[in-house]
Amino acid sequence: ARRVVVLISGSGSNLQALIDAQEHDELGGEIVAVVSNQPDAYGLKRARDAGIDAVALPHREYESREAFDGALIKVIERHEPDLVVLAGFMRILTPRFVQRFLGRMLNIHPSLLPAYQGLHTHARALADGVASHGCSVHFVTEELDGGPVALQAEVAIAPDETEDSLKAKVQAREHLIFPIAVRWFLEGRLKLAGDAASMDGTPLPSSGMR
Ligand code: GAR
Repeated sequence: ARRVVVLISGSGSNLQALIDAQEHDELGGEIVAVVSNQPDAYGLKRARDAGIDAVALPHREYESREAFDGALIKVIERHEPDLVVLAGFMRILTPRFVQRFLGRMLNIHPSLLPAYQGLHTHARALADGVASHGCSVHFVTEELDGGPVALQAEVAIAPDETEDSLKAKVQAREHLIFPIAVRWFLEGRLKLAGDAASMDGTPLPSSGMR
């Protein structure tokens, strides 16, 4: 089976969606390890409950970003993954780390990229009064939240929308699209080809599929 390592920092609801897909034989591979930079992340419990190797790697114990990323590379490579998945992993990665896994690392981001890169995406979308928001699965490159998009889901913003209600709506879509993108990658259908993502050999537009 194709091997997946998932990096998390928190609740791990996206991790749970990936675990659920795996249990329904819909992931196209096996999650062989979950690594969290936050030792108390709830997602580590989700991993253990599913019988998956759960590793806490507290970034605070490393004196630099380079040292932490070096340790993270070692932990990941021990598991010989075909794909590294960032599922709410809230650390900026060094160029060395990104280069090591280039073309085999996917992230989920809570916006319709390229809109709202960075943090507090839901609050910023609400403050701007935009009509819709969403989430994106993209390949990780050295440009933060700037790698080629594979797949997006869009949600309408309601007149009475709050940050919490919007976050919940978007997360429900994250849980749908992330396992699909992972499956496509593991099946060899979704690839990073130069500056674009490609699906079944056809380059995708910069906003991916929606
Ligand atoms: C997710 O909503 C994900 O889109 C976001 O963190 C959340 C993690 O939730 N990621 C980012 O903001 C990346 N910059 P989860 O731990 O319940 O999956």
